[in-house]
Amino acid sequence: MGKTIIIGACGQIGTELVLELRKRKGVNAVIAADVKDEVPEILASGPYAKMDILDREAVRAYIMNEGITEVYLLAALLSATAEKHPDFAWRLNMEGLFTILDLAKEGVVKKIFWPSSIAVFGPTTPRDKTPQFTITEPTTIYGISKLAGERWCEYYHQKHHVDVRSIRYPGLISYTSLPGGGTTDYAVDIFYQAKLNNQYVSFLSSDSELPMMYMEDAIRATVELMEADANSLKIRSSYNLAGCSFTPSELANEIKKHLPDFKMEYKPDFRQAIADSWPRSIDDSAASRDWGWSARYGIGEIVSVMLENVNIDLLKTSTQK
Ligand code: NAD
Ligand code: SER
Repeated sequence: MGKTIIIGACGQIGTELVLELRKRKGVNAVIAADVKDEVPEILASGPYAKMDILDREAVRAYIMNEGITEVYLLAALLSATAEKHPDFAWRLNMEGLFTILDLAKEGVVKKIFWPSSIAVFGPTTPRDKTPQFTITEPTTIYGISKLAGERWCEYYHQKHHVDVRSIRYPGLISYTSLPGGGTTDYAVDIFYQAKLNNQYVSFLSSDSELPMMYMEDAIRATVELMEADANSLKIRSSYNLAGCSFTPSELANEIKKHLPDFKMEYKPDFRQAIADSWPRSIDDSAASRDWGWSARYGIGEIVSVMLENVNIDLLKTSTQK
């Protein structure tokens, strides 16, 4: 059996996905790869490759030489950072995808996971229970790159029989590593500040409802989709996926159940416009129908597990770098 590589392994999703895949496939069968020089301690027990996804020839050579047949391509700029560096975001979010899709077209790579996002939707999309197939007119460079990526995935599947699978993740909430520059990051930052200072200044307004998901659900969804029978997968662009939806004030109220003196202030910044263009909730019935998807974590469970596990030392280490 060929090996698996996760490119962008040191990020919020990658760290947890590598650990889960190593549990299932064996430590040496799963290579963590990232542009970062240093591998986070949590991944250090298995193979690590320093890799720039934009270096097409080096990526091709590595994948061929190592006998890699399954690729999870996570490297990207997220919504907020992408707005600051639109040219680079377009390059990073698109070029690596072509490198991997082409390797699959040539028969080297057998299966690809590539994540999309709720950012493919825009202000003209119905915002509640957003359907799988609906208007997609994103107004962020991140959303435009994800929508284009989805179309290319479907194209490579139809024209070249590439087995590529994708999920439109909502905002992901986790404590193993810090989030990487998205609009939904407030829903992670808040737990560090709650523990550190018992207060938080939200960069989104109190009533900005967004679709969110606990990381354990997101990793399980990824594994379930990748293990599903190819014939049952009717969508090769990207599947809608729902966890739970909440606003910053609802999240603050849930935190107050554990920390009654917790204080929240609201100072919306440029990320407010991004949040305003995204859905409030998602219809993921196609994922349920095709591969049996069902979320487990609601807001109450997320808050309990995050307050219990968030480690403020992670925040300090990241500020020092
Ligand atoms: P992240 O920013 O935390 O991690 C991305 C990783 O990619 C980082 O470790 C970074 O060093 C690495 N990287 C950047 N440039 C690279 C390059 N040139 N070559 C190799 N590696 C490089 O992101 P994440 O939150 O883990 O997201 C992973 C993927 O999932 C992205 O495609 C993102 O768009 C998508 N996604 C994430 C969320 C979320 O809430 N986290 C939601 C929807 C979609
Ligand atoms: N969490 C991501 C972001 O905010 C959604 O793709 O960018």
